[in-house]
Amino acid sequence: MSDRNYRQELIDAAMPFWDAEADVTRRFFSRKPSRDQYVKYLSAAVYKELNPVIGYGPTEGYANGLHMEFQGLVDRFKQLDRGITRRNFLARLEMMTEEFEHYVVVAEVLEFVLGRPLTPDDAVQLPEDAKLNEMRRVNMDSGDPCLVAAMEMTEGGGASAFREASRLSGGEIEDRLAAAMKVIHRDEENHYLNAAREAAEVIGSEDDFDRMKRALIDISIQRVRMRNEMFSHPMSEAEMTELIARNR
Ligand SMILES: [Fe+2]
Ligand SMILES: [Fe+2]
Repeated sequence: MSDRNYRQELIDAAMPFWDAEADVTRRFFSRKPSRDQYVKYLSAAVYKELNPVIGYGPTEGYANGLHMEFQGLVDRFKQLDRGITRRNFLARLEMMTEEFEHYVVVAEVLEFVLGRPLTPDDAVQLPEDAKLNEMRRVNMDSGDPCLVAAMEMTEGGGASAFREASRLSGGEIEDRLAAAMKVIHRDEENHYLNAAREAAEVIGSEDDFDRMKRALIDISIQRVRMRNEMFSHPMSEAEMTELIARNR
């Protein structure tokens, strides 16, 4: 093994894009979003929390990705102590329960903005998010542990958008949103550190690292596009091009 600090190099490679997600988030809120812009953002956020698995496949026959995950967990009860470890099972249960809570807190804010109870149609996937999921799915299905580990690192984008939104104040929507985002940020803030450590452990060669880093950057770029769309495009295409040119 080399004495390079792959963990830190991976974090450094993704950080400019996580910072861009934070920047896009700050710009959205500082421009005093309209009700429609809030609805667009929160409908997309509710969708994402209901479908939190990285690179999930088709969810036909299920209410959403979380339903599919929980159904899978219920089915795997039969494998407990027959190949599936209790600790892995517990970790997955806890993670999905956290995601369910994220859905609850974001849905409550959307309901407040809409001024009516939600229906299942209120969760909306935007096109850049669909593209992001598809890109992740290709990597997750690649059979390459380096690409899979890179995908784990892309969950939440370093939690930077949640962090920014958790600092909002100054109005009823802002206060409610900040409270919701604090819940999500609490759960997500250290994910990237663990994921980066685990990713570094998978690296056995220079080529492994290069493949991993390339996938990490490609997904991180698409994450910025996803955030920018969700927040009604505060970042211009020229700025996007410049960000990519500087950091790819
Ligand atoms: Fe998450
Ligand atoms: Fe979440």
